[in-house]
Parts: sequence; structure tokens; C-alpha cells
Amino acid sequence: MSARQILVTSALPYANGAIHLGHLVEYIQTDIWVRFQKMRGHECWYVCADDTHGTPIMLRAEKEGITPEQLIARVHGEHLSDFKGFLVAFDNYYSTHSDETRGYSEDIYRKLQATGLIEVRAVEQFYDPVKQMFLPDRFIKGECPKCGAKDQYGDSCEACGAAYAPTELKNPYSAVSGATPELKHSDHYFFKLSDPRCQRFLRAWTRRGHLQPEAANKLAEWLGGEGESRLTDWDISRDAPYFGFEIPGAPGKYFYVWLDAPIGYMGSFKNLCTKRGLNFDDWWKPDSKAELYHFIGKDILYFHALFWPAELQHAGYRTPTNVFAHGFLTVDGAKMSKSRGTFITAASYLEQGLNPEWLRYYFAAKLNGTMEDIDLNLDDFVSRVNSDLVGKYINIASRAAGFIANRFAGKLLDESCHDRFMASLPELLLAAEEIADGYEQRDYGRAIRRIMAFADLVNQYVDHHQPWKLAKQGGQERELHAVCTVLINAFRLLTLYLKPVCPQLARRAEEFLNLAPLHWRDAAHLLPPGHAINPYEHLMSRIEPKQIEALLAANRESLAPAPAEHSPQRHAQHQSGEGKRAVEQIGSDDFAKVDLRIARIAAAAHVEGAEKLLRLTLDLGPLGTRQVFAGIKAAYDPAALVGRLTVMVANLAPRKMKFGVSDGMVLAASDPEGKTGGLYLLSPDSGATPGMQVK
Ligand code: 2FM
Ligand code: ZN
Repeated sequence: MSARQILVTSALPYANGAIHLGHLVEYIQTDIWVRFQKMRGHECWYVCADDTHGTPIMLRAEKEGITPEQLIARVHGEHLSDFKGFLVAFDNYYSTHSDETRGYSEDIYRKLQATGLIEVRAVEQFYDPVKQMFLPDRFIKGECPKCGAKDQYGDSCEACGAAYAPTELKNPYSAVSGATPELKHSDHYFFKLSDPRCQRFLRAWTRRGHLQPEAANKLAEWLGGEGESRLTDWDISRDAPYFGFEIPGAPGKYFYVWLDAPIGYMGSFKNLCTKRGLNFDDWWKPDSKAELYHFIGKDILYFHALFWPAELQHAGYRTPTNVFAHGFLTVDGAKMSKSRGTFITAASYLEQGLNPEWLRYYFAAKLNGTMEDIDLNLDDFVSRVNSDLVGKYINIASRAAGFIANRFAGKLLDESCHDRFMASLPELLLAAEEIADGYEQRDYGRAIRRIMAFADLVNQYVDHHQPWKLAKQGGQERELHAVCTVLINAFRLLTLYLKPVCPQLARRAEEFLNLAPLHWRDAAHLLPPGHAINPYEHLMSRIEPKQIEALLAANRESLAPAPAEHSPQRHAQHQSGEGKRAVEQIGSDDFAKVDLRIARIAAAAHVEGAEKLLRLTLDLGPLGTRQVFAGIKAAYDPAALVGRLTVMVANLAPRKMKFGVSDGMVLAASDPEGKTGGLYLLSPDSGATPGMQVK
């Protein structure tokens, strides 16, 4: 296998907010992949940077009475220490506020301009007459045009979910000064994504077949059918005052933060090239043999799979090999919430003394390389880490180490235990490539399941051979030595397989095993006969549930609305709207459109591969039967449902799901705080029969 050249990035976090567990899903996911590639012997570089420009950062600095440069310098230090704490090992962590990023932004802009892909157009936008600045949508508030809820943002309503233009708000006001904004014209610079050249290129690029299926589907939707032109041009300029790079030849106009953010990947890599003597062009020229991967959240797919490749292509650079999008993080099945204390910052986790590898392991066990959201279930977190890492894996070392140290002077058996190992635990040696494939495909959950199945086998081997009994019997010394040698070898292989996920634990295990850092190729052999190991020291402690309670308490805030400056952040979905459930009023005619019926659950079953769903067969009496997929798996055992009556929406348009068509919906009350998933299926009083209408 020849060494690949691989350049990897994670999305650049904004330089005005703390890293939280939602961010860490991405950095941990990427770091595991990078560590794996390095263990495989490839040339792999991992770069990132702070995303430092934009109005929110400018205003935040102003509010703190410091310059934007001071703010971004401080946050850079905070971010670096958070990442270090979680063992995220960037090869370079830089800043978009750098000469390199400015240079590539100007270069790309000029090249796009030269190919006729930049256009200037007048735009009408809200202007704050007091603050004397144009206002981004999120800095305009007012009453929702649909439901009338007060204090809603300029782009969408948190009460009713409606999306709209800021000009549609009633009684708009500036969130910066409180003044009534005025509409004003200004020239803006656009990247012509609608140009046929961009469309043609993007269609071809999308079909190259590397994208995740869900991402490819999204792109197909955005691009529309052949001949159709759905893409709109992208506004890449903002007017002064703005914190960013001024556009060359356009005084008072700045590159919009999203223009220079991905270019920050190049800037950070260029900076690394200077430090390490690498050749930037080898990695970024159009016919580069190197691979380029961007790990991102699904919310910024549009920027990375449309704008970014189109820009690169038409400015004469290589395009990404792939974009790996992941889902959002929920905690205990719900959005991260400041009031519940589940909006957990990286710093608080570390300050509370929790081990970063617990979280790395848990995330790895849950990640599968798709865009599905992942849930941090806190009870499951405690039990899984304790049972897998401590109970199964670490336990193997601690069970064998004492005998080796006390009875055999710290040395393994003086003859090869290869045959013995192959007779007992052959899978452990043979599965290296299969586990590697799980990592390569970013299906870490699959890799972890295999590794833990092996740990189970090894523990069964211990129980079967009972070394503690051998130790008490006379004449069994050699057998005891052989069993413990097999165990130490098994522990070494498990350590190797877990190393991308738990690098610090692996380092300590390597010290105990008296080994140089393990590489993947080391999975091809066992330890040499007579190898000396070091005295065993405790490798990892268990999570105590009270540590989780303390963590939640440290992150719990009173229910106060988030200040506007914090809002235009990605993953904002997780921060907004909590505690509010105001719903638009409807007339009785609207309600009459919903056909509610009594249904008898005739059958209920688990759905293979579905985390939350049960398949229900509903008997509607004279109206026949229906198949419905209901997200109630967390709360109900299918067997307990069969025969009971409930209420269903009978005229919901059938929905095609991954597992089949769902024809209707059963009604359940829900409480995200509740145990058992907090779901309560409705039932009628006795006497109701299947098919009866509910009004
Ligand atoms: O969504 C965000 O948090 C942006 N700061 C991500 C930028 S990623 C890349 F384009 F730089
Ligand atoms: Zn509304």
C-alpha cells in the first residue's frame, strides 16, 4: 500500500463563542480519522483556524470595550486550550485574520472577476441610522408577520417557525441601537453561481460519486433538473463598518465572512507549509494527487458543496475530494438547553474533571458516517463507558498484569505464543483490516462494536482459564504464564484498535506494555517471546453519576433569552426557541380538516436499523388497516402495545420513509424532560371502537 497524501479540515469555529459539546462531535470525529490515517502510515495533515470576521465579532468586541483583534486573540487561546484538552491534535490551528488568508481571498476574488463571475448590483437593505451601519438579518427584530409574536429575528420566527425577509417584519427595530431601521440602497458584489459554467461544473462534480448519499440528494435538490437553473447568485460583500478584509478596488466594501472562511483552510495550510517546508501547490493545484476532505455540520453543506467547489474550480485550484457532513448533537433526546444545563461547554467538562476520552469513546460509538443527529444520553454515557472501557478493556490488563509482575519477573513467556493465540483468539489478529475499514468509512460505531465484541471474547477466555485458580494449583506455572501472555497480547491489540479514539489511554497502555507508539502495521504480529512489561498502574477510572450531576449544574443557567450578538452562529437551532411553545391560532374549519380516528394497534414491531421507530399495524374497523411508523420506541415495548386503542390522524398524506410508507400518525403527548423518553400515547375511554371519529 503506498502512502496517500491527505489534507483534512474541520469547520472553523467563530471567534466569539465558546466551544461546546456540539462542536466537539465534529472535532473529535475528524481527529479520530486523522489519527487513524497517520497510524496507517499516510501523510496526513489536519488544519483548522478561528473564523474571525463579521458583524457579530465586531459588535461583541465593541461591547466588551476591546478591539476585534484583542477579542480574537483571547478567544484563540481559549479555543486552543479546549481542543488540547479534548486531545484534538491539529497540525496547525490558525486564524482567518492572517496575511495568508487575505492573500488567497484577494487572489480567488481577482481570478473570479477575470473570468466574469463577479457582478455588482444595487441591493436594498435595512440600515441603522443611529449606529450608521447596514444590519444583518439577525440584528433586526420585530413582530412576526405570520403570528404577531414580538421580538422575533429578521429571518425567522421562533414562536411559529415561519421564515421571511426582514422587510416583512412588523414594527422592525435595530437590535444594536433600538432605532427604527430605514431601507437604503447599496452596491453589493455577487459571485454568479447562476452562471451556466457554475451549474455545469457543479452537476458534474456532484455526480463524481464520492458524496454521502444524503448530501448528494440535497445537492440534486438544490441544483434542480437538467436545464433548470435554481441556483441564485451569492452576495459576497458587506459595507463598512465591518471587521474583515476590504475588497481590492472597492473602498468601503468588505468580503462577507463566509467568503474568506473556507479560504481560511488554505491560509492555515499555507502557514503550515511555511513552518514545515511543504509545497503548497502540490496540494492545491488542479491536478493535485493529494486528497482533500472537509468535515462539516450538515447546516453548512450549501457553503461547502456549492459555493466552495465552484469558487475553487473557477479560480484555478483543485476541488475537494469529499465533504463529510455530520448531524447535530442532542442531549437526552432534546436540543442542548441552557436551562436544563445540557448546553455543555468544553471548558466546563474539563474543569469538572471529566475525562475527555470518555466523551471521545462515546461519540465514536455513536458515529456512523451519515448525516443523522447523534444523541448523548447521559445515563447511557455513564453505563457504556464504565462497562466497555473500564469493565471490558482495562480489566484485561489488570487481570493479567499482577501475575506477570509477581510470578514471572515482568516477562512474557519465553517462547512464541503465536500458535496458542491463534488457537484461542484468532479473530483479534485477523480483523485488523475490517476494523480499519470501519474507521476509513467513518463508521466508528461499527469499528467499536467489533472491538468490544473482541473484548468480550477475551474476558470469556479469562473466565474459561481462570488464572487465579491456576495460580493456586501446583504445577500450573507454565500454563498460567501462557494464559497471561495471551491476555497481554490481546490487550495490546485492543489498545492498537482503540488508539485513534483514546490516544492518551493508548499512550499509557504503551508505557505499561513497554512499547514504542503502535502503528496499524503492528497488528500483524504479537509481542516477541520473553518481552518485558512494566508494572501496571491504574489506566482509567469509572464515571460517577454525581460527576454528571455536577456538570449539568455547572452549565445550568436561568431562562434568559440569548442576547442577539450570540445568535448568528451555526447550530443556532440548538440555542433558540427553548421554553417557548406559542402556536398560531386556527379556526374550527382548519381543525375539521384533520380526520382523527380511534385505532386498535393490531401489531407492533421493532424496525431493523431504526433507532426511534416502531412499525404499527392499525385497525380502523370499517376503514381497514394502516401501516404507520411511530417514533415511540424509546417509551414502549411493542408487545405491550398490541390490542390497545389509541387515536390516529387518518388523513395525513402517506410519507415514504427509509423503512417503508407510513400511512398516518398516532398521537402521543411528549415531555422532553421525562424519563422513558417522555412519551405518552393517547387512549380513549372504554366504549370507543376502531374507526370512530374523534372531534
Ligand atoms: O458555521 C460556522 O461555525 C462557520 N464559522 C464555519 C466556517 S467553516 C469554513 F468555511 F470556514
Ligand atoms: Zn411567528
